Amino acid sequence: MQINPYIFILPRSPGQIVWDYKNHKQFELNLEYSTRLAHLIDKPEKFDNNNTIDNQFVSAGILTPLMHEPIEWGWDELSKIFHIGTKNIPCEYVPQDINEWSRHYMDHCAEVLATPTPESSLTERPTSARITLPQPSCFPVNALVKTLIERKTCRTFTGERVSLDDLSTLLYLSLGYLRERENDIDETIAEGHGARRSSPSGGGLNACEGFLHVQNVSGLNPGLYAYHPTEHALSFVNPLPDSPLGQLLCGQHFINNLPVGLFITARFDKLWWKYEHSRAYRMAYVEAGHISQTFQLVATALGLNTWLTGALADDQVETLLGIEDSAEQPLFFVACGQSDGQAMCKELKALLNNRGSHQ
Ligand SMILES: Cc1cc2nc3c(=O)[nH]c(=O)nc-3n(C[C@H](O)[C@H](O)[C@H](O)COP(=O)(O)O)c2cc1C
Repeated sequence: MQINPYIFILPRSPGQIVWDYKNHKQFELNLEYSTRLAHLIDKPEKFDNNNTIDNQFVSAGILTPLMHEPIEWGWDELSKIFHIGTKNIPCEYVPQDINEWSRHYMDHCAEVLATPTPESSLTERPTSARITLPQPSCFPVNALVKTLIERKTCRTFTGERVSLDDLSTLLYLSLGYLRERENDIDETIAEGHGARRSSPSGGGLNACEGFLHVQNVSGLNPGLYAYHPTEHALSFVNPLPDSPLGQLLCGQHFINNLPVGLFITARFDKLWWKYEHSRAYRMAYVEAGHISQTFQLVATALGLNTWLTGALADDQVETLLGIEDSAEQPLFFVACGQSDGQAMCKELKALLNNRGSHQ
């Protein structure tokens, strides 16, 4: 018998909260139970089959007969608790198709809207007179301004094929190591760390990586591919699963026909190597956000529409990308394709009109 390696203990007088952060369970222990647990932590071999408390610990999963393989984490305990504790969140029910998703989403919105909206500004913040800013100079409209204005999240894609040329541009400008910057190196840059992307990167480490989810791209078989930024090349990782894309993205079936998407992952071991503190964990998400925005802007400039999500079925995604239980973790998904530009799928729109007309 061993102590579940995925628990932490919080003092909450008069009890102790034992938190199984992997399985999303919490237990409150009184002094008798916490004392017994302390003894078992000290000597797990003292587990006693005839002791009621010990058996309750087993049923609760606080003690476990399984010998867990230590996962290759690559970072410290605090970041591990947060990351694993926010993974594979138990979902009461994952919608199985777009109609179910639409009903589910409408009910969720109705529930949220039934509670008071938070104040738009925090009351404690001192308010002073507004300083009016001059009119932003968006004119004459140059390409960047046009792209920034046109970028929007769409939820109705046609499924139309994306060309390999467009995909190549998209990958190079959002994730590739820019050949144009190869000579832009000064003495502050350590040897072997000069690769630069169009997006900034925490510590210049380029800890984020990208995996493509391809459904309809000219010249590429459907499947999952790893992007190699130095060579600006792809390698095949896995075929697509039988279930639709929405199943991997917490039931958001309205994007099932997206021709191409990018899972952005982070190499936690790289960040930890340079920054031995959980704070740098925050930077992994900031970096993924930069890359996601760049991807969206390049796609928009190419005349494509975009969509994004952080709602991943983590374990399934990791398995598909071939990075399960490793120090590389998927953080975000961003995708593009042709669309009529609608922010709402037609099933949700129909439901909304229907419910509206019955009120
Ligand atoms: C961190 C983040 C997570 C998001 N997750 C989702 C998502 O799971 N599903 C979705 O349809 N849109 C998602 N969005 C898109 C937002 O809903 C969208 O950006 C917002 O409604 C504003 O619309 P716009 O992007 O067209 O300006 C996400 C956006 C961000 C920045």
